[in-house]
Amino acid sequence: KKATNQALVIFGASGDLTYRKLLPAVFDLFMNNLLPDGFAVLGISRSQYTDHAFREKMKKGIKEFSNFKNAESDKINNFLSKIFYLSIDTENGEEYVLVKEKLTELNRKFNLGCNYIFYLSTPPSLYASIPKFLYGQGLTFQQKGFRRIVFEKPFGHNLLSAKELNKLLLEFFEEDQIYRIDHYLGKETVQNLMVTRFANGIYEPLWNRNFVQHVEITAAENIGVEGRGEYYDHAGALRDMVQNHLLQMVSLVAMEPPIKITPQDIRYEKMKVFRALHPLSEYDLKNHVIRGQYTASTIRGKHYPAYREEPHVAKDSRTETYVAMKFFIDNWRWADVPFYIRTGKRLPTRVSEVVIHFKPSPLPLFRHEGSSDKLNNQLILRIHPDEGILLKTGMKVPGNDYLVKSVNMDFHYSELSNQYIPDPYERLLLDCMTGDNTLFMDGEAVEETWKFVQPILDYWENHPEAPLYGYPAGTWGPDVADRLIEGKNDTWRYPC
Ligand code: BG6
Repeated sequence: KKATNQALVIFGASGDLTYRKLLPAVFDLFMNNLLPDGFAVLGISRSQYTDHAFREKMKKGIKEFSNFKNAESDKINNFLSKIFYLSIDTENGEEYVLVKEKLTELNRKFNLGCNYIFYLSTPPSLYASIPKFLYGQGLTFQQKGFRRIVFEKPFGHNLLSAKELNKLLLEFFEEDQIYRIDHYLGKETVQNLMVTRFANGIYEPLWNRNFVQHVEITAAENIGVEGRGEYYDHAGALRDMVQNHLLQMVSLVAMEPPIKITPQDIRYEKMKVFRALHPLSEYDLKNHVIRGQYTASTIRGKHYPAYREEPHVAKDSRTETYVAMKFFIDNWRWADVPFYIRTGKRLPTRVSEVVIHFKPSPLPLFRHEGSSDKLNNQLILRIHPDEGILLKTGMKVPGNDYLVKSVNMDFHYSELSNQYIPDPYERLLLDCMTGDNTLFMDGEAVEETWKFVQPILDYWENHPEAPLYGYPAGTWGPDVADRLIEGKNDTWRYPC
């Protein structure tokens, strides 16, 4: 697909996300010949840059983070000539006349057809005022070209603020102009969850409570908060990862097949999953949600500071950098099947994966290698790194005995001959440019996911004594999280 002429207007353009993700992704689109002929980027923020200085900064970002880091200078310069910068006080509505003037100028110069995407890569505190000020300049109306607005997560700080924001935005934009981004949905392997399930005849008949013992979803990171202490200390892992990325993965794993692959049909099925999440009781909040925070440690001679020692983090912070939880989905497919999810910073490795644990065969007939007396088939969908699919299945160990060993049937994306895998932002930006909102969240779904996590936020607020377990940086989080998993000898998978 190729987009029509348009401008991408980025608010918060001097920030890290623009530098590391957005501009490198737009450059990738350019290199893949997916940008329209008439195209411009307008970066906006408070910091002072000339067009030249801003382009130089973006050039560095491209050279470090793009998929085409080694592109020829001519190509990079050609791309940079489409980038412009405007410094305004984004909190002052009167200055938005400058945005309008600049867009009118770019529109003439590049024949943009008055098509504009506004991308908010700003602190969420500006999510209400920027749309209002754009509206004030008539920049949200779609008489001539299209107008779309993109919101980075977190969308809201809790259920109430998400609801208020949704309501307010509808004063300035129609729902189908609003794109709430969750970059996990732009990952090839996350999209592949749907393809694996619904393009193959063999998995779906097993994908239910009759055959699945439990489902495990992990998003582990080995990095700490990386200079984002100020944001993170107000967010924590529950808001930063669970409310969005993890619950989105849950919905793709648990949803019913959509009638067709259209945005409406997919959103409808995902929404049914969110609505079926079993509300957490007081007992669940106490026993089935584990939070942790990393403490200092030294690994192979390298010292890792505690979370509380990170810049811009309160010295007595009670913010969680780890969450593990168990919950259920109340529908015919999943009733009584536990879903376990966990995420954390400063864990031993960076890995995101979905593990479907199948029930064992009804009667153990054979001896098994190791201490186990049964074999749990597992289907592992690796989101990253080493994207692929792994099926653990039992095989006879050659010899004059019936001894069973668990072996791997393993597929790696890297085996697909040099297949180009776009960065999630490349994919999602292109979708937004072409008006396809399938992989974006609608307002109702965002509220529904907040509704599920809100009792946890409330519980922690009202019970400061609820444990916040310390775990040494570089370990798999608090041991107590293992006890969440039902079943003798069952634990989380610990991928290396
Ligand atoms: C972001 C979070 O949304 O996702 C970060 O704000 C986190 O804290 C990141 O590091 C993880 O993304 P990925 O693609 O590296 O798993």
